[in-house]
Amino acid sequence: MSAVGLGAMPLSFADMLDHREQAIATIHRAIDLGVTFIDSANIYAPSADTVGHNEALVCEALSLYFGPADISHIVVATKGGITRGEGETWSRDGSASGLKAACEASMAALGVTVISLYQHHRHDPRETYTDQMRGIAALRDLGWVREVGISNATLPELEVALEVLGGPGSGGVVSVQNEFSPRVREDREVLDRCTELGIAFLPWSPLGGSHHAKNLESQFGEFAAVAAEHSATTQEIALAWLLKLSPVVIPIPGATKPATIDSIVHSLSIELTDSQFERLSATEPFGETIYPDSELRSPLR
Ligand SMILES: NC(=O)c1ccc[n+]([C@@H]2O[C@H](COP(=O)([O-])OP(=O)(O)OC[C@H]3O[C@@H](n4cnc5c(N)ncnc54)[C@H](OP(=O)(O)O)[C@@H]3O)[C@@H](O)[C@H]2O)c1
Repeated sequence: MSAVGLGAMPLSFADMLDHREQAIATIHRAIDLGVTFIDSANIYAPSADTVGHNEALVCEALSLYFGPADISHIVVATKGGITRGEGETWSRDGSASGLKAACEASMAALGVTVISLYQHHRHDPRETYTDQMRGIAALRDLGWVREVGISNATLPELEVALEVLGGPGSGGVVSVQNEFSPRVREDREVLDRCTELGIAFLPWSPLGGSHHAKNLESQFGEFAAVAAEHSATTQEIALAWLLKLSPVVIPIPGATKPATIDSIVHSLSIELTDSQFERLSATEPFGETIYPDSELRSPLR
């Protein structure tokens, strides 16, 4: 997989509905520049009644780009376990039947018979985490998903996932997708465990999310200062910093414009010195998670 992925979520924001060509051009630019990993989810959609929108968009972009050619080198990841209902009620369904139905719908939207990477999106407090992982294992056993990952997971949840699904060498957990950025750095221990086990760590909202990404300069002076030293942008330095945190880090910045992809890929060529890396790491994160989780967590067992 490429060293960075494309987070496809913003391509399905409501304000992108009239810009489908731009959305597809953004995905095509990513492929042009060697990005082979695209992160989607069933719930990335402009409205509750268009769940699967983002998966279908990615499918369309890939088929326009590749036609009938082999696309097995492109990893399209999706997720299940969060639901959206009438009146924009957001909930969870981590039951085995709920995950199975979500996965089947994702296969249809993506136009595939096997999903490259299927991620459990977020815990469902009504189910034990163990049972939710068994639900993911069942999808793997059905042959519907090639690789499995988890998202928004605590360290104890990662350990449960490893117990139920196994580790990366045995068809088990290959990725953990948690929020991590200059703003939010709470899951350092999860990242460290991923590094130890060789599990990919996919920082979501790596620039702080769509509302904060353009304001990094004003919020993080030290990142802006290092950017000036490299004649780079603050966003490029944030991505370079994430990449230097660990060899297992694969940031998945969101983008809605082809030019943004150019900048994202440029970040791969930036070599931070150890002293610059230390200066950036010493800055204080000050953000609350973008999607605060007010519900009780799942019991583990
Ligand atoms: N697992 C989860 O629960 C979860 C939750 C949230 C997100 N995610 C995943 O994480 C991905 C990324 O998160 P996100 O989209 O919320 O936030 P983000 O990547 O932190 O920010 C996205 C914004 O950053 C801008 N941007 C990206 N690279 C840039 C660059 N080099 N220079 C300037 N601006 C840049 C984009 O601009 P333009 O729009 O102008 O191109 C976009 O508006 C999502 O797409 C999704 O796949 C997962």
